[in-house]
Amino acid sequence: MHDSNANHRGHIRPAPESFLEPELVADISANGVNEQRRGLLRGALATAVAAMSGAALASESDPDIVNIPEWSRILGKSVATNPYGLPSKYEANIIRRQSPGLTQTDQASVAFTPLQSTFGMITPSGLHFERHHQGWVDIDPRRHRLMINGLVSKPLVFTMEELMRMPSVSRMHFLECGANTALEWGNSAVPTVQYTHGMLSGSEWTGVPLSLLLERAGFDKSAKFLLAEGADGSSMTRTINMENALDDAIVAYGQNGEMLRPEQGYPLRLVVPGVQGVSWVKWLRRIEVGDMPYAAKDETSHYVDLMPDGLQRQYTSIQEAKSVITSPSGGQKLMSNGYYCITGLAWSGRGSVKKVEVSVDGGRSWREARIEGPVLPKMITRFNFDWVWDGSETLLQSRVTDSTGYIQPQRSELVSVRGSRSIYHNNAIQTWRVNQSGEVENVQLG
Ligand code: MTE
Repeated sequence: MHDSNANHRGHIRPAPESFLEPELVADISANGVNEQRRGLLRGALATAVAAMSGAALASESDPDIVNIPEWSRILGKSVATNPYGLPSKYEANIIRRQSPGLTQTDQASVAFTPLQSTFGMITPSGLHFERHHQGWVDIDPRRHRLMINGLVSKPLVFTMEELMRMPSVSRMHFLECGANTALEWGNSAVPTVQYTHGMLSGSEWTGVPLSLLLERAGFDKSAKFLLAEGADGSSMTRTINMENALDDAIVAYGQNGEMLRPEQGYPLRLVVPGVQGVSWVKWLRRIEVGDMPYAAKDETSHYVDLMPDGLQRQYTSIQEAKSVITSPSGGQKLMSNGYYCITGLAWSGRGSVKKVEVSVDGGRSWREARIEGPVLPKMITRFNFDWVWDGSETLLQSRVTDSTGYIQPQRSELVSVRGSRSIYHNNAIQTWRVNQSGEVENVQLG
C-alpha cells in the first residue's frame, strides 16, 4: 500500500498523516515516505542557508546535493509512456472496494466508491461504484442495438452509430443505489464512509434525451409506463414512469467526456435523474412503452421497502435528500487538536440542495455549512465547514434541506415511520464519533 493521503496535503489540515487509517500510518513509515520527506526538507533547508550566507556553490560530493530528490535530477518519462493516463502509483490505495462477506459471488455484487478520498462533485469514472446482478460485460458497439416497441406507431431499432448522430445533451447527475446505506438500518455495521455511503457517484452523462426517441417512435400519449431492459445475463428489467422518461431521462453513451466504461453499461445505459440506481438500466437494449407497471422481478422481490406492519412498499423510486460528512469520517484519525475543514456531500432526487447544516454536538445545535457550487438539480453538492477540534469527544453530523423544503431526518425519525427491517432507501443523518484520541467511528444515536 502507498501513501493514500498524498492528495490531502494541499489542504489546511495540521498533520496529513492524521487522516490516514492507522494501518496506513504504519505503511508510510514502512515505505520510507517519511524518510524521503525528511531528506527533502534537509536538502531544501541547506540550500536556503547556503543562499542566505552567500556561501560558494556546493560541490557534487556535498551531502546536500545528494539529498536533492532524484526527481529533480533525472530526465522524466516520455509522453508516450501512458497513452491513457493513470493515477500516480502513490494513489494505489484509492480504489473501489467490496465489503468483505457482503455477497456470495463477485459477479452479483457491489464495489463501493472511496468517498473519503474524492474531491468536488465528479467521481472519476474509474472510481464510480459498480453494482451488477450478473457480472459486467464488454459489448461490441457495432453489434449492439436499441429497440423501441410496445405502444408506439412506429417500432424502431437503432444502431449506436445512428444514436450518436442524433442531437445530444450532457448533464451532471448523481447515481445512488436504492440499497446505499442498507447495512445501517439495524445498527452501525460497517466502519467507513466508503461502505456506509459509497454506492453513490456523480458524473456528467452524455446521450440522447429519451423523450426524443419516444417521439420518433410515435409513442401513445396515454401510455404511463416504460419497461427498460438490459442486455446482460441478469435480465434486468425495470418499470420507468412516463413522467420521468419525458422529463430528464437520457439514453447515455458518454460519461465524464468519454464513452461509458464497460462496468457502467458500455455502450448504452439509461440515466433517470433522481431515481434509484437500479432503474438506470445498463447495456440498454430495449424500451417498451406500456400502460401499467410491469412488476418485474427486481421490483417485486427486490427493491421494495418492508414497512413496520409487514407490508412491502413498491415503486418507491425517488432518492430522498441525503448528506454525509466524508472527512473526517469512520476509520480516520485526527492526530492533534486545532483546525479541520469538515467536508462532505449532499444531494436530493427531488431537486437541488438548498442548505446544509453541520452539528458537532450530535444534533443539539446546527450551523450552516459553505456550499461549494455549482449547485445542480439531482447532482451531488460539496459542502465545507470550518471546525476547531478541542480534543474532546465530539459527535459530527450533517443534514441537508432540499429545494422542496424537505429536511433529512434523524435516524430515530426515519425508523419511527419505516421500522428497521428495510434494506432500501435509508437517508438518515449519519453520525461520526471522534473520541479523545482522535479516532473516528461510525455510531448511531437513539
Ligand atoms: N443494469 C443491468 N443491465 N444489470 C445490472 O445488474 N444494476 C443496477 C443498475 N443497472 C444493473 C443495471 C443497479 S442495482 C444499480 S445500483 C446501478 O445499475 C449501478 O450502476 P453502476 O454499476 O454504473 O454504478
